[in-house]
Amino acid sequence: MRAASAPGKVILFGEHFVVHGNPAIVSAIDLRARVEAVETDEEAISLEGFTGDNPASSAASYLAKKLGYRKGLRLKISSQIPQSVGLGSSAAIAVASAAATLHLIKGVIEYPLLLEAAYEGERVAHYTPSGIDTSVAAFGGAGVYTRSEGYRKIDMRLEELLIINTGKPRKTGDLVRRVREFSEAQPERFRELLEEAAGIAEEALKSLRKPDLETLGKLMNRNQELLRLVGVSSREIEEVVRLCLNSGAYGAKLTGAGGGGCVIAVADYDRIDEIVKELGERFSVMRARLMAEGVRIESQPDNP
Ligand code: PMV
Repeated sequence: MRAASAPGKVILFGEHFVVHGNPAIVSAIDLRARVEAVETDEEAISLEGFTGDNPASSAASYLAKKLGYRKGLRLKISSQIPQSVGLGSSAAIAVASAAATLHLIKGVIEYPLLLEAAYEGERVAHYTPSGIDTSVAAFGGAGVYTRSEGYRKIDMRLEELLIINTGKPRKTGDLVRRVREFSEAQPERFRELLEEAAGIAEEALKSLRKPDLETLGKLMNRNQELLRLVGVSSREIEEVVRLCLNSGAYGAKLTGAGGGGCVIAVADYDRIDEIVKELGERFSVMRARLMAEGVRIESQPDNP
């Protein structure tokens, strides 16, 4: 048996625009998904408690095929990351499954192969992911991601923020399609928005290094406006953003695909608990620690 775990994530700046080539800033968070892989003689890959396609079984099947593995695998998922709300649950599951499977078959984790398999796994949920979620789940910490250059870790000093779940699940693939339709209908306008989003990410990098919470908040608010313009905000998101700002947060925005899902907010660290209490009456709210560790093996073989 092997088990591996990988963290969820928040996108701090640049979601959606990253699909179209822009940089996005992302951090791993202290919620993890764990996948256990047990060798069987059944010549099939099964997943406890699930049927059909799932990021865990797709990532494991991809590896089994690629590595010519002839036996079977039984997978078991346990996860602290809420699903379908923008916190990278499917990517963390895909990465943890790929790591457990790789370690079981080869005894080591080879990162390029791990990322390839995890990407296949994530496609079950996202169709055409940019790769940002699987990268941060694999490498952890915080970083800048672009499709052309992948993930580059950054020295970030922002340690904590608020995550508020609007309680409305949604499908990432549908929202990515919505932005693509916007880009095709209004190419000029979309180019301007891409440029502005890139400028926000560049400014944000400077503020994250200090950290300058007030400036970060302003940049988040502007990023949220851009996301609203391309059609991925929602009534619930707008309400949560407003409540955060009224409770003393410096800024707030949707994180991930939008359309529901989670909102993140920055505030003075000694103000966070107060805001958690205020919003906690209506929403599920957490104080999240950023820059969590990337994928790790959680166990050694049963019979070493
Ligand atoms: O994994 P989610 O639902 O948080 O969304 C990922 C971010 C997007 O930019 C919307 C899509 C992508 O693949 O980059």
